[in-house]
Amino acid sequence: MTLWHGRFGDGPAEPLLAYTVSLPYDRRLAADDIAGSRAHVKGLVRGGILDGDEAGAILAALDQVEAELSDGTFAFQRSDEDIHTAVERRVTEVAGPAGGKLHTGRSRNDQVATDLRLYTKRSLVEVAAGVLALQRTLLARATEAGDAYLPGYTHLQRAQPVLLSHHLLAHGWALARDLDRLLATRVRADVSPLGAGALAGSSLPLDPVGTAADLGFAAVFDNSLDAVSDRDFVAEALFDLALLGVHLSRLGEEVVLWSTEEFGFLKLADAYATGSSMLPQKKNPDIAELARGRSGRLIGHLTGVLTTLKGLPLAYNRDLQEDKEPLFDAVDQVVLALAAMEGLLASSTFDTARMAAAADSPYAAATDLAEHLVEGGMPFRDAHAVVGGIVRAAIDGDQSMADLVAAHDALGPDAVRLLEPGVSVTRRTTRGGAGPGPVAEQMDRYRARLAADHERLDRG
Ligand code: ARG
Repeated sequence: MTLWHGRFGDGPAEPLLAYTVSLPYDRRLAADDIAGSRAHVKGLVRGGILDGDEAGAILAALDQVEAELSDGTFAFQRSDEDIHTAVERRVTEVAGPAGGKLHTGRSRNDQVATDLRLYTKRSLVEVAAGVLALQRTLLARATEAGDAYLPGYTHLQRAQPVLLSHHLLAHGWALARDLDRLLATRVRADVSPLGAGALAGSSLPLDPVGTAADLGFAAVFDNSLDAVSDRDFVAEALFDLALLGVHLSRLGEEVVLWSTEEFGFLKLADAYATGSSMLPQKKNPDIAELARGRSGRLIGHLTGVLTTLKGLPLAYNRDLQEDKEPLFDAVDQVVLALAAMEGLLASSTFDTARMAAAADSPYAAATDLAEHLVEGGMPFRDAHAVVGGIVRAAIDGDQSMADLVAAHDALGPDAVRLLEPGVSVTRRTTRGGAGPGPVAEQMDRYRARLAADHERLDRG
C-alpha cells in the first residue's frame, strides 16, 4: 500500500517502483530518520496533538523498528519506496492506530532534509577526524626529517633546495584549510528544517524550535520553502570533499613520482604497495594513483549535484533525491582515501641521501650566488645575468661552476662555499621560507594549529 492510496485508484506500476525507489541507498539514513521521528513525536505531544499513550506506543514502536533494523530482522517490502516509508509502515504495523498519527504535520520533504542534515553534520566531523590523522602523520614525518633536504621544483625542474619537513608541511597546510572548510560547512548544515512540512508549514501547533533542540541542531529554518529545497549544504560538502580529494591527488602524484626509480626519493612499505601479476620486479603505488584518479569522481559528484540543483523551481522536486548517492559516495571515498594515504605515508621510507644528491647540484645554488652579488651592491637584474652566464659557461664548457665562480671578479673563492652540499637550503631565512630557522617556527605554528583543531573537533 502506498502512502497516497486514498487518492489513487490504481497501485504503482512495477517500472515506476523500479525507477523511483531510493531505499537501496537511503536506508543508511535509518538511524537519523528514527531520531527525527522521535523528536517529531515529542513535539506533537507538546502541541497537544498526541496524548501520552499514543506517543508511548509510537516511541516503543520506533525502538522496535530501530532494533529490527540494526539486528537485520527488519523485513523490507517491495512497496517501501524509501527509508521514511519503510519506517512509518512498520511503526504503524507495530503501534496500531496510534502509528497513523506519526506523520501528522510532517512531510517526507522536511523529513528527508532533516535526515540528510543530521548525516552530513556527522560525516563532516568523521572526515575532519581523518584529515587530522593525516595531518598528524605529516607532522610526525616532518619532525623526524630533521635537516634532510631535497630539490624544490617549479615546472618540475629543479629550482632551489628545500627542507623535506617544509615540503611535507606544505601538504599539511592545505589539509588544515580542508579541515577548516569542513567545519565551516557543518555550521551551515546545522539548521533544522523539521516543521516546514511539504512546503508551507502547518495549521497544527508544531514545535520546530523544540524539535530542532531535541535533535541537537544549532538553528531552526526561517523559511519553509527554503527549508525543504535548500541543498546548499550538500553542494558545499561536495566541494569541500572534492577539493580535499584534489589535495590528496596532488600528494598522490608526488608519491608516484618520488617512488619511481628516476626520482628514488621514497620507498613504499610492502603492505602499502602492490605487485604486478606479470612483472616480478614491480612495486606499484596504487593507493597514490587511486587518490589521484578518484579525485575525478569527487569532482564529478560536485558537478552532478550543482547541475541537478540549477534549474529547480521552489520548493521540493523529486530531482532532489539525486543528492544522496553522490554525497554518500564522496564521504565514503574520502574516508577510505585518507586512511590509505595516512598508512602509506606513515610506513614509507625516505631516501634522504638521494634527495640530497639531487639537491646538491651546484646549479641549484645559482640564486644564492646572485643574492650574494646583491649583498655586495649589484642590482639584482645584473647579478642574475652574471650568474646566468656562469651557468651557461659551466654547461657548455670544460670548467666547473666552482672554478668559474672562484675565477670571477665579483664572486671569487669566498663565494664558492655557497656551492657546497647542504649550504644553499640553510640560506632561506625569511618567514615561511624553506630553511631551518623559519621551518622550526612554522612547525611550532603548525603543531599549535593541530592542537586547536583537535579541540574544535572534540567540541563537536
Ligand atoms: N526519497 C525522497 C528524497 O530522497 C524523499 C522525499 C520524497 N518526497 C516526495 N514528495 N516524493 O528526496
